[in-house]
Amino acid sequence: MKPNAMDHPRGGIVLVTGGGAGIGEAICRTLADRGWRVAVTDIDLAAAERVAGAIGGVGLQLDVTDRDSIAAAADAAEGALGPIDAWVSNAGVSTMARFIEITETDWDRNVDVNAKGSFLGGQEAARRFIARGAPGVIVNMASMAGKRGAAPFLAHYVASKFAVVGLTQAMAAELAPHGIRVNCVCPGYVATGMQARELQWEASLRDSTVEAVRELYLADTPLRRIETPEDVAGVVAFLVSPDAAFITGESIAVNGGAFMD
Ligand SMILES: NC(=O)c1ccc[n+]([C@@H]2O[C@H](COP(=O)([O-])OP(=O)(O)OC[C@H]3O[C@@H](n4cnc5c(N)ncnc54)[C@H](O)[C@@H]3O)[C@@H](O)[C@H]2O)c1
Repeated sequence: MKPNAMDHPRGGIVLVTGGGAGIGEAICRTLADRGWRVAVTDIDLAAAERVAGAIGGVGLQLDVTDRDSIAAAADAAEGALGPIDAWVSNAGVSTMARFIEITETDWDRNVDVNAKGSFLGGQEAARRFIARGAPGVIVNMASMAGKRGAAPFLAHYVASKFAVVGLTQAMAAELAPHGIRVNCVCPGYVATGMQARELQWEASLRDSTVEAVRELYLADTPLRRIETPEDVAGVVAFLVSPDAAFITGESIAVNGGAFMD
């Protein structure tokens, strides 16, 4: 019988990238609460170990821009926990600058971590799933900026996240015959370290204040609150669960209604 995503057990083994802080940490905690055994990975090993220690998972160093680092972490995760059922490519970075001032270094870093990181991680996961003949699930972390280019001072980040949305569709189409599902999530304005940095940069670029910029974020959010990492984590938990067994190739907006018009 052909593998089918419905065969995927509830609460299997999951590897999360960028799991040491912010949205990735919330994903690790939520999945652990729902019965998953979690390999918490991050470029910052101490952060990964802190989160893993809190949830009974395994903390590992993994740099999503480095194929060898990804393979080594996946081997270590499988050695400790068993075969991986789901892979969440969450790690990402941002910087802010006016388009005409974005440097090649900024461009390369955003595209490397956000787009190439999802490519390398997804490839590692898919190769393992296919070699085992097992259905598997991949979730990529895109952004509201992966669906709407009008994101001030973020042209390079926008490009990297549109790439994640396109990559997700291409991966889903090619991997569907193997029973592998691939989706991505597009959060809005989420209260994390990344947002704290962006508030400072944007306030400076607008010659404004952090409070005024936060008001702009709220004005762009019909549900009128700043998004929490848990708002995103719950949707990722749904996407890796059998409840989402017939969803693939989708980019799910989780932004408090910003795309209604
Ligand atoms: N915060 C937001 O408003 C927001 C909105 C939309 C999308 N996102 C996306 O959500 C994801 C998580 O963002 P966040 O807000 O939690 O960011 P964050 O900066 O709070 O946390 C990111 C984590 O990723 C890790 N990381 C950075 N580079 C890495 C690399 N090369 N390899 C492995 N790990 C690396 C960091 O060490 C950190 O632990 C990112 O992909 C981001 O683009 C965030």
